Amino acid sequence: MQAQDRHIPVLLQEVVNFLAPERGGFFLDGTVGLGGHAQALLEGGASELLGLDRDREALALAKERLAPYAARVHLCHGLYADFPSYLAQLGWQRLSGALIDIGVSSMQIDSASRGFSFLSDGPLDMRMDAECGESAQDLLKEASFERLRDILARFGEEPQAEKIARTIVRKRLESPITSTAQLAQLVEQCYPKKWRETARNHPATRTFQALRMVVNDELGQLARFLESILSYLEPDGRLVVITFHSLEDRLVKQTMQRWSRGCLCPPYLDHCICGHTPEVRLLCKKPVQAQASELAQNSRAKSAKLRAVARLK
Ligand SMILES: C[S@@+](CC[C@H](N)C(=O)[O-])C[C@H]1O[C@@H](n2cnc3c(N)ncnc32)[C@H](O)[C@@H]1O
Repeated sequence: MQAQDRHIPVLLQEVVNFLAPERGGFFLDGTVGLGGHAQALLEGGASELLGLDRDREALALAKERLAPYAARVHLCHGLYADFPSYLAQLGWQRLSGALIDIGVSSMQIDSASRGFSFLSDGPLDMRMDAECGESAQDLLKEASFERLRDILARFGEEPQAEKIARTIVRKRLESPITSTAQLAQLVEQCYPKKWRETARNHPATRTFQALRMVVNDELGQLARFLESILSYLEPDGRLVVITFHSLEDRLVKQTMQRWSRGCLCPPYLDHCICGHTPEVRLLCKKPVQAQASELAQNSRAKSAKLRAVARLK
């Protein structure tokens, strides 16, 4: 089976419905990954699509998959938060639609050499762009006890954050922590035996997620993207964001709510003096989540939350 076939795009029909590619125009897929959503947008009528990804391996697979649409596709290695500079290179002023589907792809998770998973042993890397930045291994080597504890608590909501951070700092004095199996075992030992026997998830799940988010500055990328995307959407231009983490979803929710608000005056004023008008229409009041039929095919979709807006005229 090819890697493209192993990665099933999440909430595919919902993405197409909200982005409405049949209107034509320019579309951005900021996390093109293995090209599943991009393919559906191109098939659905998008005139041209810019696909970005920070992972060269993913881009190569997307290029293969999207070869039938090559004349309408521009694929670039880069960060989605830097999208304005890629639009400028293409001479695109406005977008009909933009999508980011943030998280790791099945290909990244399944590849032991990338170090994202505790299920198979590999080097503790976790960089989506294997060419730059600090790896998880470097982070575990350099970070202070306080920083490690805070990372695990904030990004992993890890109840044993303090104990795990303390154990990492102690163990690394004996020998460097360089493999996924080493870290998974270390975390496991921080949990009481009884918990380990009854828990639904591996005890290292939260630790791996937290380190991955920091290594790839995932929240920072999202914040930067949200700061600029609105001004690039044409009237009725659509934005769809799919997240897999509560901190990310909260940021998307609060940002979209702010954009959709009218008057921002304090409630004690009896008439509006700010003149603020809504910039977007929310396309869904609550986050859209995968239905049982999709979950039966793709358990990864379980934690996906989709939010969407349309730019007002
Ligand atoms: C969940 S996958 C996307 C799958 C894709 N929608 C599809 O249908 O195949 C997420 C992808 O986003 C990429 N990615 C994550 N953060 C990124 C960023 N800040 N800039 C560019 N690409 C990013 C990852 O490398 C990964 O390939």
